[in-house]
Amino acid sequence: MTDKKTSVHGAVLEDTPSDGDRPLVELRDAGKSYGNIRALHGVDLTVRAGKVSCVLGDNGAGKSTLIKIVSGLHQHTEGEFLVDGGPVRFSSPREALDKGIATVYQDLAVVPLMPVWRNFFLGSELTKGPWPFRRLDIDRMKKTADEELRNMGIVLDDMEQPIGTLSGGQRQCVAIARAVHFGARVLILDEPTAALGVKQSGVVLKYIAMARDRGLGVIFITHNPHHAYMVGDHFSVLRLGTLELSADRSEVGLDELTNHMAGGAELAALKHELAQVRGVDTEELPEEGDIRAPAAAPEEGKS
Ligand SMILES: Nc1ncnc2c1ncn2[C@@H]1O[C@H](COP(=O)(O)OP(=O)(O)OP(=O)(O)O)[C@@H](O)[C@H]1O
Ligand SMILES: [Mg+2]
Repeated sequence: MTDKKTSVHGAVLEDTPSDGDRPLVELRDAGKSYGNIRALHGVDLTVRAGKVSCVLGDNGAGKSTLIKIVSGLHQHTEGEFLVDGGPVRFSSPREALDKGIATVYQDLAVVPLMPVWRNFFLGSELTKGPWPFRRLDIDRMKKTADEELRNMGIVLDDMEQPIGTLSGGQRQCVAIARAVHFGARVLILDEPTAALGVKQSGVVLKYIAMARDRGLGVIFITHNPHHAYMVGDHFSVLRLGTLELSADRSEVGLDELTNHMAGGAELAALKHELAQVRGVDTEELPEEGDIRAPAAAPEEGKS
């Protein structure tokens, strides 16, 4: 669905850009140094409406640095950053939000004891009545939050329940529905499934697919190639701050992606070291030169 919607701020949300396939967000040969530390360099990334771009990589690979540039928290020090085809340099996340780029951080900025609807509108509360009698429009906020959550397939019995009582997966979903409601065109998710079990991860993956089907461009950061492969249209694997792999779904299989992520050669070296530790079974680890991935899970079709 790419119906025109109106955000609560009254802005009309644009459909996909008029000139067809123009990317919403693009990084070209981009990089970032923190003082002497070159955390990221030579990175290309393209985010299109209705597509999911996955960014994978080990700890310290530069994933967070990459999304901090796109979300306006940091500025790139090399290369180009374009939004809707024009060069940009954000000086705050607010500027990114104004361009429709919303980020759901892993440690979701929610107030656990506040009801779901309060958290949904946190910082953008609806009010009614003229000044100085203006007050919160609680009924409208509850109704709107409930509708938006239902649109994403999340049905809660009680909008009054504290958000802290929801499961981690449900909280992620509320954050995604909130970003969609407030007019996000690009949704950045930093490891949304990292702390979740299998079932809850599945739920979050479903909402990622739903956001994609509503025409958003999604940047999905994850350690997990299986999760990435279930919803991804493009895969970028970062290693030590550079792109090790950048491939469309048609160009890379789950096996190969897993191999890139697992760092087959590094695992083989690790096996050699682990073999000297008593009580560690290294049977399943690959031999040097043999970097085949574990058997792939059945490929899940896109919804
Ligand atoms: N503010 C900073 N100042 C200096 N160095 C930094 C800063 N932020 C990140 N780095 C360095 O940049 C590199 C990439 O870090 P980044 O946080 O982007 O990795 P990551 O892929 O998100 O890792 P993780 O999976 O652990 O979250 C690391 O070597 C890190 O130490
Ligand atoms: Mg990180």
